[in-house]
Amino acid sequence: MIILKSRDEIRKMALASRIVGEVLLKLKEATAPGITTDDLNRMADEMIRQKKGVPTFIGYRGYPKALCTSVNEEVVHGIPGKRVLKEGDIIGIDLGVTFEGFVGDSAITVLVGKVSAEVERLVRVTAESLDRAIEMVRVDARLGDVGFAVQSHAEANGFSVVRDFVGHGIGRNMHEEPQVPNFGKPGTGLRIQEGMVLAIEPMVNMGTWETEILKDGWTVVTKDRKWSAHFEHTVACTAEGPIVLTRV
Ligand code: CO
Repeated sequence: MIILKSRDEIRKMALASRIVGEVLLKLKEATAPGITTDDLNRMADEMIRQKKGVPTFIGYRGYPKALCTSVNEEVVHGIPGKRVLKEGDIIGIDLGVTFEGFVGDSAITVLVGKVSAEVERLVRVTAESLDRAIEMVRVDARLGDVGFAVQSHAEANGFSVVRDFVGHGIGRNMHEEPQVPNFGKPGTGLRIQEGMVLAIEPMVNMGTWETEILKDGWTVVTKDRKWSAHFEHTVACTAEGPIVLTRV
């Protein structure tokens, strides 16, 4: 069942989402060679609680941390730990916050110092593919339009799109219907309605689209270990068009 949100509920979702956006911005500024993924997690946890939010990921299906931190060939759901970031790495930082009963969910991929030109292109194209997808979030557009926006831009640039994980509806729960694939055909799929709130989250790979899960049960990596980038925003569909709730 798809739960449509009223204007008032979207206003509340904007409050949770703003915390997510603000914390991610701080984490981006803090990302540098020499810090660990646990350092980022600790900072996130403190900032969220200071803002009276709750880290949504902690305890979700037993997940232990506030953040997911996915480095280089890790696609999503990397668990923060002792890993030290080094110049040339990229790190996907994914965060969910619950505030007054509603959830916001967003992710960014950050360059650690100077990265190779090809990796920089991967990250830029992934961010662009999310922007293009967001533009499709309009009344009477289709989810296939959203997926096609991501897939066509990524593939035109020689990259591939992950199939095994998709975006999602979001509201009082982090994961609601519908699923939001990052691939599809224009004019197909579910019709987008006013009041839908979607977490759109393209995962784009330099090599194969195929993934596998490491033995920790969480970390998703590319099958060929080539690098991957991930961006996510929580987006509300209104009569006036899309509102990106997690953009600060
Ligand atoms: Co998400």
